[in-house]
Amino acid sequence: MINSIIVIESEEILAEKFKIIGGESLKGEVSIGGAKNAVLKLIAATILVKGSTKIYNVPRLTDVEIMLNVISDLGASCIYDKEEKSVIINASNISSITAKYELVSKMRASFIILGALMSRCREAIVALPGGCAIGERRVDFHIKGLEALGAKIKIENGYVHAKASKLVGTDIYLDIPSVGATENLMLASVTAEGSTRIQNAAQEPEIVDLANFLNALGADITGAGTSEIVINGVKQENLHPIEYTTIPDRIEAGSYMAAVVATRGKAIIKNVYPAHLTFFNDKLIKMGASIKLVEPTTIEVSCKNRLNSINFVTQPYPGFPTDLQAIAMTLLTTANGVGIITESLYENRFMQVPDLRRMGADIHQDRNHAIVKGVKNLTGATVAASDLRAGAALVIAGLMASGETIVEKLHHIDRGYEEFEHKLTALGAKITRFDDNENNSLPNSNVMNIRGIL
Ligand code: EPU
Repeated sequence: MINSIIVIESEEILAEKFKIIGGESLKGEVSIGGAKNAVLKLIAATILVKGSTKIYNVPRLTDVEIMLNVISDLGASCIYDKEEKSVIINASNISSITAKYELVSKMRASFIILGALMSRCREAIVALPGGCAIGERRVDFHIKGLEALGAKIKIENGYVHAKASKLVGTDIYLDIPSVGATENLMLASVTAEGSTRIQNAAQEPEIVDLANFLNALGADITGAGTSEIVINGVKQENLHPIEYTTIPDRIEAGSYMAAVVATRGKAIIKNVYPAHLTFFNDKLIKMGASIKLVEPTTIEVSCKNRLNSINFVTQPYPGFPTDLQAIAMTLLTTANGVGIITESLYENRFMQVPDLRRMGADIHQDRNHAIVKGVKNLTGATVAASDLRAGAALVIAGLMASGETIVEKLHHIDRGYEEFEHKLTALGAKITRFDDNENNSLPNSNVMNIRGIL
């Protein structure tokens, strides 16, 4: 069954807030959805192939909506089924090679369309995403890598114009194991002549998922999940449509684990790949949490006592994920002792700090280091999400705090957490979404507004 899509005007989205009454221990069961940072790239990759490709385990998120709009703008048809959480994409006819600033500026991840378009059309015009709240987030490795494959690149009027009569495989060394650059170059190399070797490649599970997806389409990629990925070029006509299921979202899973631990609760978390969270699990256990494997994709998380402080440094996978840094900081705010956090991936990813301080946290920040001295408890306050993960961290802080917390700017949170308040409510949290104008609670959390498919 194909469901129609809910359309909520953007002004209304901006006015939405969470009201949280803290102090409840989370208990029960929660199921994790498909990985946002994998599915966005799979959607882009569907344009390599003619015919209908179906992807399952596609979360209903605004970022997914944006990526579907990017490819429908290029001529692909997209049908999202909200009950089945699947999307069918047919990119048989690509009528445009331009990804507009209006879309790319809303979500940096849409820059991934550059590599996909080069693989399919040998030409692409893609808006440069620019910086974002958490850092400068350059795309120089993407560009240099494409040039090494033989593309001529011009940067004009805020757009990257890439063109190649043919792409030829080569060795590419990345200065930093960039997730996006690894993915963009993997996509571009799928139909290049000969072999491409990406050295110092990112090793995130989402890279492996993209490689598995591309191989299922007919690509020839080995080494994904290690620091060296080899892509043997195949002919585009050998690629064929498939059905594929996205991996679970490790950051969503880590967020619920933290929420349970933060509230000294006990819950079953389903549809999680524990191996994707080894480093984070290890840190939670050192803090005093208990994590038991119930089934291969089900864990039980619990915590009875006040947490102990820990130190950690964010690193590329398999190190401590930067996307869980703000949430882990929230846990440290009331832990016993002092914890030191070093953020090594982004220049500006401590934006949760001023709001956590407003809730009573004792945090000293010096450039990319934060020293968190555990206090007895947090108190509710009005705070605002500054980005997706900082927003989730503030929600968890609200669950821990005494009294009422209002979290504003939910549009950041809706980018990456599907039905956040519904899942938390099912675990016993007191959290409601309301609209500032009406002060009414709202039934629906996420938004999907995909042009051209209604
Ligand atoms: N970098 C460069 N030049 C480049 C590419 C990256 O200097 O050409 C730098 C960036 O500025 C950054 C670092 O390298 O400081 C790492 O960036 P990377 O390219 O690895 O990140 P990304 O692909 O832009 C993805 C996730 C992020 C996640 C990072 C790191 C998606 C859509 N986004 O971003 O997720 O933080 O990898 O793991 O996959 C999130 O979900 O909240 C989120 C921000």
